[in-house]
Amino acid sequence: MTPASPSAPVLTIDGPSGSGKGTVSRLVAEALGWHLLDSGALYRAVGYAAGSADLDLSDVDAVTRCAQATKIRFRDPGDGGETRVIVNGHDATDELRTETAGAAASAIAAIPGVRAALFERQRGFRRAPGLVADGRDMGTVIFPDAPYKVFLTASAAERAQRRYKQLKAKGLSVTLAALLHEIEARDARDAARVVAPLKPAADAVTIDTTGMPVQTVVSRVLALVRPAS
Ligand code: C5P
Repeated sequence: MTPASPSAPVLTIDGPSGSGKGTVSRLVAEALGWHLLDSGALYRAVGYAAGSADLDLSDVDAVTRCAQATKIRFRDPGDGGETRVIVNGHDATDELRTETAGAAASAIAAIPGVRAALFERQRGFRRAPGLVADGRDMGTVIFPDAPYKVFLTASAAERAQRRYKQLKAKGLSVTLAALLHEIEARDARDAARVVAPLKPAADAVTIDTTGMPVQTVVSRVLALVRPAS
């Protein structure tokens, strides 16, 4: 693996759950041939590790120690398939996708010690030839000097609809109403927290993706990095 490089270019893609960040980040990283950081997976992994250890998620000290100790690895299966997330030696990819894991991640993400424990780890993903960083605070806190910053949004109703399709396609049983409720609650929690609240960086380009095909969003984002000459 190439070593971390503080001078490698970074494209940050922040936004709320269901804004299309995950898909857009993956496609843009592929098109550019850059590395990808799915920072949400790190928070999900810590939430999962804390849950597996039967910790009370409101026990700030215990969860912080857990975040410091949790070993998280991303493994590319090499066949073009989904990146696997290995948490303390266990392939937790399937467990991490669930709404329960998302809610646990959102709860532990409000703990400053957890964010501090993940700070340097996230910066370690910055490598040549470049990094696409997907999250909530990539442009504001983790890579404030990134040359390219995007903030994706979409209406809560559309985000719930997208999430519904995604989870259904993965065979998970969910209802649209429950998802909408969960998304609105998570948005409120992520925006209201004291550390790294969800908000666009002052220098980010905001794209409202409501009703916009993924390919159009990808083209818009790519145009920021590679303006047509
Ligand atoms: O993006 P994803 O849904 O996987 O993120 C799960 C949760 O992790 C978010 O709701 C948010 O609370 C937290 N998170 C965060 N900062 C990030 C990425 C995710 O607080 N950079």
